[in-house]
Amino acid sequence: MKIGIIGLGFVGLSFASVLASRGYSVIGVDIDKEKLKKIKNGMVPFYEPGLQSILKKSLKKDLKISSNISDLEKCGLIFVTVGTPQKRNGEIDLTMVKNVINKIGKLLSKTRHKPIIIIKSTVIPGTTQRVILPILQRISGKKAGKDFGLVTNPEFLRETMAVNDTLYPHVIVLGGDNNIFLKKVKRFYSNLHHNVPIVLTNYGTAEIIKYANNSFLATKISFINQIASICEEIPNANIDDVAKTIGLDPRIGNLFLDAGPGYGGSCLPKDVKAIIGFSTKMGVNSTLFTAVEKINEQQINSIMKLLKQNIGKTQGKKIAVLGIAFKPETDDTRDSVSVKLVSRLVKLGAKIIIHDPKAIENARKIFHDKVKYQKSVTLAVKDCQCAIIMTGWKEYEKINNETIKHMAKKFIIDSRRIVSNKNLNAKYFAIGLGQKI
Ligand code: UDX
Repeated sequence: MKIGIIGLGFVGLSFASVLASRGYSVIGVDIDKEKLKKIKNGMVPFYEPGLQSILKKSLKKDLKISSNISDLEKCGLIFVTVGTPQKRNGEIDLTMVKNVINKIGKLLSKTRHKPIIIIKSTVIPGTTQRVILPILQRISGKKAGKDFGLVTNPEFLRETMAVNDTLYPHVIVLGGDNNIFLKKVKRFYSNLHHNVPIVLTNYGTAEIIKYANNSFLATKISFINQIASICEEIPNANIDDVAKTIGLDPRIGNLFLDAGPGYGGSCLPKDVKAIIGFSTKMGVNSTLFTAVEKINEQQINSIMKLLKQNIGKTQGKKIAVLGIAFKPETDDTRDSVSVKLVSRLVKLGAKIIIHDPKAIENARKIFHDKVKYQKSVTLAVKDCQCAIIMTGWKEYEKINNETIKHMAKKFIIDSRRIVSNKNLNAKYFAIGLGQKI
């Protein structure tokens, strides 16, 4: 059976490459011609560890790349993995999903095959049934459940772990009407992954599962960040010891308790905003998620407060920001807390020098010549009044007294506690650590 995958971002490209590497015949489709050119040449258009080598292998097997959805005519399964970015008002933007669905509708109208359309893109509950299904039926003139299948299949992969999470997911969620098409998708997944739980449910439940998952993760982060702020007021207190200890309680679990400058990236901030918007619309007060979001925003305020207390006005001051990617091992700067911090500092007239091992090119697209960029940490912090560690890159563990020797003022804010045990000859503040006495 041939498989089509529409949208070759983190999710789609990882899925296409993994499936082809496992012997499936796959056609990956995207409208971005530049991106397609790179992918066809075995180049991943973003930085994702391990993906390039698996893509290269897959291209030698049966992975075809196309810009044309009509090339999917013979595909039994068509996965939709296009993005659902955030609009200015916080709602998700369904433009890309709708465009793709329109084209699939046209394809359906012409084919005698009965493909299954599988929605992997994150969509607000109700979207598959009330938006996607009517478009498909109207444009194709055919009926879901009879002439084609429609299944919701939310994706939980993490950037930087995309290949691993695609190969070894913790769960497969399939939402749809309990018919032959749903059973076919279930069979596909049980052949692909042995011993992975497959949850069969309806459209709306599958859609809310994704939001429940991500908003719970965001809640864990805001919870530990709130405790971290309290720790900062307790002499010698250490948030990592707190996290490690409460994490031993199996009811809590030890993951996602790493305090920091707040969660960022293309999913958690967008999904928390979307669930707040959705529940408000439904008349459900989103007290918890509003607090989660508020705590997330407060993390930057604490950094700004520390700066003010220690170097006064930031205007004209040289400040090094170490790490602009939203997490280590990626070049992704989407909704990165570090980007927000730099934007605020630039507005206040600070002279910012950004260092990041992978994300400088993406940072340039945002800040152009409003900031300076440095490839070496030592040069980035030279003559600075402060260095702020924002992303937990391994490279920053090497920072020592030699690295900061030429800082104008030896003042470090370490949002990830990376150099907390270095006894640096500097004024040192870390998120979640009480002052040493
Ligand atoms: C997330 C979800 O984990 C994934 O299941 C979903 O499919 C997409 O969204 P991702 O955006 O790749 O994945 O990043 P993730 O590793 O979850 O980190 C998100 C943010 O939370 C990052 O800014 C990270 O630094 C922060 N974080 C994470 C913390 O501050 N502390 C933690 O303990 C964990």
